[in-house]
This record gives sequence, structure tokens and C-alpha cells, in this order.
Amino acid sequence: MLREDLFSIPRHVGIIMDGNGRWATARGLARTRGHREGIEAAKRIVIAAIDRKIEYLSLYAFSTENWRRASEEVSFIMGLVARNLRSQYGFYRKHNVKVRHSGNLAGLPPEVQSEIQAVSDETRDHSALTVNLAVNYGGRDEIVRSVNRWLETRGEDSVPAEAFSEQLLAEHLDLPDLPDPDLIIRTGGDRRMSNFLLWESAYAELYFSDHFWPDWNGEDFERALKDYATRKRNFGGMR
Ligand code: IPE
Ligand code: IPE
Ligand code: MG
Repeated sequence: MLREDLFSIPRHVGIIMDGNGRWATARGLARTRGHREGIEAAKRIVIAAIDRKIEYLSLYAFSTENWRRASEEVSFIMGLVARNLRSQYGFYRKHNVKVRHSGNLAGLPPEVQSEIQAVSDETRDHSALTVNLAVNYGGRDEIVRSVNRWLETRGEDSVPAEAFSEQLLAEHLDLPDLPDPDLIIRTGGDRRMSNFLLWESAYAELYFSDHFWPDWNGEDFERALKDYATRKRNFGGMR
């Protein structure tokens, strides 16, 4: 039996919200319907995360590779992101959720950029949970943008010998103040990272669920947390 006082809660959970398309196809519905239902699942998990006093929740909503999909699906997802950021203000206020973004903002349609900006401003003082929406996010892309940000901080005549370092890379990530994720969850049955938080998840615990994202609820989340609590994290040290 797990003792309650040993039930360690992750500070930062990342979720690869996968399986929307298959959830819909299995029901004879359009894939887009799965994305719509995926938003409801995200709201359920945000509430579950607040209940569990998790501080940071990173939600992978659209990858830098997802542009390869049919243009109708891409436009639908972009519209859904923009509309939902706006229509969920009440939800963020009620649950005291701070919304932030990681990923390549400049590569998003202007209306999505402005909604992300607006919701980030609107919720900046909320404090129950920080939700990091990863939209047009790729782990490799983030690392490259980090290096470029660092290069931009250097003067023309800076000494070439100034060595780049893990610390400098981490300081120039999209959200450098976020702690590394303790737990990464992937729903939908596949067991891969698909370019999510590559740098940050170096020592994250991984949890895979066969359930499609639109079916996810508080019980699934609780199962993932229970499993996490049994892990012995080692960070390369001695056991
Ligand atoms: C995840 O669900 C959502 C996005 C990638 C936008 P998918 O759309 O990848 O669903 P499956 O994996 O095809 O079932
Ligand atoms: C990962 O899912 C991206 C998101 C959940 C946003 P994908 O469906 O894009 O991943 P692959 O293509 O199966 O690896
Ligand atoms: Mg998928």
C-alpha cells in the first residue's frame, strides 16, 4: 500500500494529447469532432490538476510537424485554438488559471497570435495553475530558437571564446522560468515523444495510456499520478 505521505505530486506535468482523430473515426465522426472533444478533456484535466495542486501543466496542442496535415484540418485546429482561448476566459478566471504559450509564435496565423497574447495578458495574475499551451511547438525548434536568442544578445565584437553552455541554452528557452517537467503523459497508445519538450524532459518520468485523449478524465489522470508516485527518480545518482 502506498502511504499518503509518500504520495509525491509532480510539480510540472506535460501531456501529449494524442488520439483525437482515432477517437472520432472509431465513432464514424469527422476527425475535427475529435479535436473539439479534446478541448473538453483538457478542461477536465485542468480541473483535476488544480485539485492535485500541480503547479504547471504543459499541453501539447499542435506540433511544428502538424502543418503536414490536410489544410482543412490545420485550419480547423487553428480556428479552434483562437476561438477557445477567447471563449474560455470565464473558465480561466473561475479556476484562477494562468495561460502561457510555448512554441514558435511568429509562425502562427495573426489571429491566433493575438488571442494567445490577449489571454496571456488577461490571466497573468492568476495563480492556481499555470497552463503552458504548446502550439506550433517543436522541441528541436525551441532549442534552435534558444541558440539564436542567445546569439542575438551577443555584441558584434564579443569574444568568440565565450563558451555556450547548458545553462545558457536553458536560459533562452521559450519559458525559462518553468521547472523541468517531472512527468510526461502520452495518451492514444503510441510511445514516443513526437518532438515534445526534448530538452526539458531529460529526466522526466514517462507514462503512456492507451485511452484516446477525448476519453481522458480525472480517473485517468489520477492513475497516472499514482503510477508516478511509485517511481524512484535517480537523476544519474547512486541508488
Ligand atoms: C492529437 O490527436 C491532436 C493533434 C495532433 C492536433 P491526433 O489528431 O493526432 O489524433 P490521432 O493520433 O490521429 O488519432
Ligand atoms: C503529437 O501527436 C502532437 C500533439 C499531440 C500535438 P502526433 O499525432 O502529431 O504525433 P505522431 O505524428 O503520431 O508522432
Ligand atoms: Mg496523433
